[in-house]
Amino acid sequence: MVTPKQRMSPDPPDVVVVGAGAIGLASGWRLAQRGMRTVVVDGGEPARGATHVAAGMLAPVNEAHFGEQELLTLNLEAARAYPGFIAELEREAGVDVGYRPCGTLTVALDRDQAELLRRLHRFQVSLGLEAEWLSGRDCRRLEPALAPRVVGGIRSSVDHQVRPRALALALATAFERAGGELRTGSAVSSVTVDGDRVAGIVLDSGEPIAAAHVVVAAGWQSGSLSGLPAEARVAVRPVKGQILRLRGDGGKPLLERVVRTPEVYLVPRADGELVVGATVEERGADAAVTAGGVLELLRAAYEAVPGVTELELVEASAGLRPASPDNRPIVGAGALEGLVWATAHWRNGILLAGVTADAVADVVQAGERPESFRAFGPERFGGAVRQLTETGAG
Ligand code: GLY
Repeated sequence: MVTPKQRMSPDPPDVVVVGAGAIGLASGWRLAQRGMRTVVVDGGEPARGATHVAAGMLAPVNEAHFGEQELLTLNLEAARAYPGFIAELEREAGVDVGYRPCGTLTVALDRDQAELLRRLHRFQVSLGLEAEWLSGRDCRRLEPALAPRVVGGIRSSVDHQVRPRALALALATAFERAGGELRTGSAVSSVTVDGDRVAGIVLDSGEPIAAAHVVVAAGWQSGSLSGLPAEARVAVRPVKGQILRLRGDGGKPLLERVVRTPEVYLVPRADGELVVGATVEERGADAAVTAGGVLELLRAAYEAVPGVTELELVEASAGLRPASPDNRPIVGAGALEGLVWATAHWRNGILLAGVTADAVADVVQAGERPESFRAFGPERFGGAVRQLTETGAG
């Protein structure tokens, strides 16, 4: 990592990416790979926001709602691309990111939940996804730690997992190896605007960084960057998620695959860690861990997998998911020339990091947004938006 005094190049960057979470780092990596001088800036250490707290479920269907067809299509595209994204990243960074194609078992603890999951199963089958309905007994055969009260569930071989903290380390390493510059501990004071285009940013220290492109990947804080005129802003709100990390024995894991109920998810790591998440709380920028949040998670986890009480509780944390007014991502060119949004990934930031990064690089390099992001541009919220090139997806 470079400190402000160790600037890599005397030339001004082509692109400044604001935010060193999974989205900002992945975008920076792709931009640097395409030969653009890229600086990623962050007020703290890399990936200490939502990425640090995320469980890392890659759950294209379970983390979208019925009827969110465009988001589902994007999520599925991201899931299909994930193995390739990870293989390239691990090769470039030399870091194991804990990608486990372990699948997911989503179980019902009573008849109401079973009815809900039956609908989800029909939906998955209608999409042509591999998803099998299992009886309670068959669920317990797969995962003997499940409670006797489990009445049935869906085995899916689509939803997998990755370790977000390792992913972030790998992205930062790959970004720097590709020639990018990571400036941490450097909060952005404002975006610089020159007429109808962005001209760079100014750091809290007063240091300006000139750049023709500014990519905003600042998570829930993306909407409040100063310097942008009101009509060029997007609305992003924080949605709190509390999450627990429990330690078990990697040699005798409690679970083999991700287990979910409609109330909780449990993500088992290869080393015995079990991540239990997550609350969904609309409380503004409050990231406090509460006794009520921990109680809610442990109760729901215990009801599904009673053996969780034997594990060591090693971490309780809270993160702020970035969400747009319609809870869908905001990715694309903004209202000013050179301004690009890459934010509001809500519950799918880790899954969507790779495809978002590709989209950001396309927008910066060619003014084009891939077709799969057609529905996710900032223009859907109104306001002035710069015209994309005729090949751009508007
Ligand atoms: N994707 C899991 C969560 O947002 O809690």
